[in-house]
Amino acid sequence: MSNINSIHFKFLPMSMRVLFTMVLLVFGVGYLMAMIQVWESHAGRDGDPMISGKDLMIAYSGNPSGTKLESALRGPMQAMLPDDKREAIFTWLHDGAKQDQFDAKVNPIIQEHCIACHNPDANPHLPDLRAYEGVAKVAAKDEGMTIPTLVRVSHIHLFSITFIFFIVGFIFSHAYVRPTWLKCLLIAVPFVVLITDVASWYLTKVWAGFAWMVIISGAFMGMAFGAMWVISMWQMWFGKVPDAISDEGEIPCIHGKV
Ligand code: HEC
Repeated sequence: MSNINSIHFKFLPMSMRVLFTMVLLVFGVGYLMAMIQVWESHAGRDGDPMISGKDLMIAYSGNPSGTKLESALRGPMQAMLPDDKREAIFTWLHDGAKQDQFDAKVNPIIQEHCIACHNPDANPHLPDLRAYEGVAKVAAKDEGMTIPTLVRVSHIHLFSITFIFFIVGFIFSHAYVRPTWLKCLLIAVPFVVLITDVASWYLTKVWAGFAWMVIISGAFMGMAFGAMWVISMWQMWFGKVPDAISDEGEIPCIHGKV
């Protein structure tokens, strides 16, 4: 056995195991928060409060029968205003989003509930809703996320998730998992599905069905994260040293190496 193998958790100093555990605990909470965030920003866009493939299709590739304003008000912006005012905006949209009705019926609502965030000083990346021109843009046919938005989100996503899974995979590399290909697969899967995930965001623009690829990629990423997390924590603190690498084991020459 060459010495490029990792050393099993049980042979690591206590200080390192504490470090690994703390990192995994914080990442675990972070992962839950990320899931809540995905829910919050996508669920309900299609009118049904549960998250669905349709919600993601609308988010990424748009909604031919709707507008950005409506899908945002059914989804992430729902809590920003009372239901009756929301209905008033929908009525205006369904009547053709005309400018004369805007001033009387819609603008007061937007001034009161929306422009605190939707103005360029507060947030240059959000649609500017201070005047009719800005509102008209989100009241036009929903084309989904624009390419510049996707590029911005994807570079953040690619860098930050790679970082997380490098750390989680590095910790997990100290686990004893056989067959070895399975261990390698668990380490590799998050990176593979990260690529298919981000690629699918763009591909939903060509065919909305790629939204399912986003969901499937996310599911695999979650499963790999969960498996590496649980196996690492278990072997670090609860499991026994596997026979194959313990002193009494069959292959004593690899002393603790996995
Ligand atoms: C507390 C700050 C805040 C308030 C108040 C707010 N928004 Fe938003 N809005 C956001 C953020 C942040 C996003 C982008 C994140 C997201 O999509 O979840 C967003 C996204 C949107 C989008 C989608 C933009 C896009 O490009 O897809 C629309 C449309 C929108 N808001 C409309 C409204 C309307 C209408 C109101 C008032 C009823 C409102 N917002 C109130 C913060 C706010």
